[in-house]
Amino acid sequence: MTLPPRQAAPDVVEYFAACTLGLEGVLANELEGLGVDGIESGRGGVRFEGDRTAGYRVALWSRTAVRLQETIGQATIDREDDLYDWVASFGWDDLMRVDQTLAVDASIRDSVFRHSKYAALRVKDAIVDQFRERARRRPSVDTKRPDLQLKLHLQRDQATLYRDLVGGSLHKRGYRPIQVKSPLNESIAAGLVLLSEWDRRSPLCDPMCGSATIAIEAAWIAADRAPGLKQRFAFERWPDFDAKAWRGLIEDAFKRMSMDSVPRIDVADRHPGAIAIAKESIKLAGLRDRIRVHHTALADFHLEAPPAVVLCNPPWGERLDPEDLEASWRDLGDFLRRECPLSIAWILSGNPAIGHALRLKADRKIPVHNGPIECRVLRYEIGERR
Ligand SMILES: C[S@@+](CC[C@H](N)C(=O)[O-])C[C@H]1O[C@@H](n2cnc3c(N)ncnc32)[C@H](O)[C@@H]1O
Repeated sequence: MTLPPRQAAPDVVEYFAACTLGLEGVLANELEGLGVDGIESGRGGVRFEGDRTAGYRVALWSRTAVRLQETIGQATIDREDDLYDWVASFGWDDLMRVDQTLAVDASIRDSVFRHSKYAALRVKDAIVDQFRERARRRPSVDTKRPDLQLKLHLQRDQATLYRDLVGGSLHKRGYRPIQVKSPLNESIAAGLVLLSEWDRRSPLCDPMCGSATIAIEAAWIAADRAPGLKQRFAFERWPDFDAKAWRGLIEDAFKRMSMDSVPRIDVADRHPGAIAIAKESIKLAGLRDRIRVHHTALADFHLEAPPAVVLCNPPWGERLDPEDLEASWRDLGDFLRRECPLSIAWILSGNPAIGHALRLKADRKIPVHNGPIECRVLRYEIGERR
């Protein structure tokens, strides 16, 4: 049995925004702030609904979502042929032009299909066959940068077909000059800032800044700078793209942006290469002169005044020798006690065995994944200077 196909232009669109494991609550808060309806958190993402512009708004404004998909149909699939028949029942020229490209990805679990690639192939066949019958031409497949990226999710007999609004990952904000070895993903950095409940007005510091991702995300939050302002999205190439609504959102985002609202932000790193990348990234993010960059080791880093909040992710040890690693964490603890009395420090740690070197007691430990690594965001209240 199959459910009815998608209406040509539904009034209420269902969406799924994916995020890093552990940041679902932060993402749900962001979505609430963006005024969408039907918010429902799950593992690794949040469902919500709204009209077409709700998806555009989230793509433009969400700092912690990494992917954003729109549900284009749901059905019950009992036999393999049900999938082809169901997909063939959509009017595909509402969703793409014949001269555009498509890609289909599938994930299956306990279904009539044994192989996800085969399920994806049947979806693609149903679409191109429909175009061939109607127009004697068919769209091509492009797995790298398709105009229409579809995702089939088939669990037991329940199928959901999504289209991807972004066409890549939302975390690519466009301020990285080069792909550095293992920088902190922008959406996790933003998640860390949002988790910290920083008030966006008080001084902030990242004393082990690497490429300065945390400071840049914090500054953009303070400036109310939309993270997707310079990104190009897949939905801009869709036949049902509402260019007027999108222009309105962009104009509004430019009006809201105020770099003058960025408070004092200090960052430091001992590594000259990291400092060079941090400076370039800060420039590309439109934040030159808004973030003070110090090339110094923690032991020699002195601040004019204690920051309200310290955010950082120290090295975890994959590439460092254990003694150097321990010394870095010890220096961080000393720096916090010496330069940051009465501050709140939020530290992203991927190595539970090293936290003791800070010689501080965390009052909160929040699990957050960074790629495959299970990390903890540790919160410390730094006492009076001793
Ligand atoms: C995991 S990386 C930080 C990545 C960063 N969040 C980003 O966005 O790219 C840790 C950084 O700590 C710096 N570091 C390690 N020990 C340090 C010390 N004692 N003083 C200053 N910086 C240090 C390293 O040079 C490295 O850039």
